[in-house]
Amino acid sequence: MSAPMRLVVLVSGNGSNLQAILDACESQSLAAEVVAVVSNKHSVKALARAESAGVPAVVVSAVTGESRAEYDTRLTSIVSSFMPDFVVLAGYMRILSMEFLSWFPGQVVNLHPSLPGDIVGVGAIEKAFAEFQNGTRNHSGVMVHFVPDEGVDNGPVLATARVEIARDDTLVTFEEKMHRQEHKLLVEVLRELSVKYTKVGEPS
Ligand code: GAR
Repeated sequence: MSAPMRLVVLVSGNGSNLQAILDACESQSLAAEVVAVVSNKHSVKALARAESAGVPAVVVSAVTGESRAEYDTRLTSIVSSFMPDFVVLAGYMRILSMEFLSWFPGQVVNLHPSLPGDIVGVGAIEKAFAEFQNGTRNHSGVMVHFVPDEGVDNGPVLATARVEIARDDTLVTFEEKMHRQEHKLLVEVLRELSVKYTKVGEPS
């Protein structure tokens, strides 16, 4: 008997990628269970999505004056209490330090809306579209990678997908294309990880 892969998903906002994972789990096209959703922000849509799916949703907001290390130590104890096989950063907009990452070696996976080494940090979709508008870019892409250290949107690449920018694209249509590709790629990568890391459960 095999146990489904346990995922803790870290979020900061809308949670459309979280929703793609929840839907894939629900339809059993992904052999995984989202055991918790952790947000660094209150009242974001991702939390409502978790609650609708019956998944524990926890807010870990930063306390004024707290260092990154202190925050990440608190985050570690909450995330590890859910015993994840993988921690998925799905629109989690804080940089994680080694205080967190050293507890989850080879287990933290990030999604980013750019091809490797291209545009890092926040606003990658908007930046790509601005470059398209000034004639210096005709495509972007999305990637999923492991997070071994504090490098931003950088680490061993698990998968990429190129996204063309069409002449009649607006920021809205380009964003939609990017998100569609993200939802697909993230679930595909998690599916691959679930096959690779299938565990043998306790005999019943
Ligand atoms: C996604 O586009 C994700 O790639 C991006 O935040 C968005 C979250 O959307 N992440 C980063 O930019 C990380 N540097 P969602 O909340 O709808 O899933």
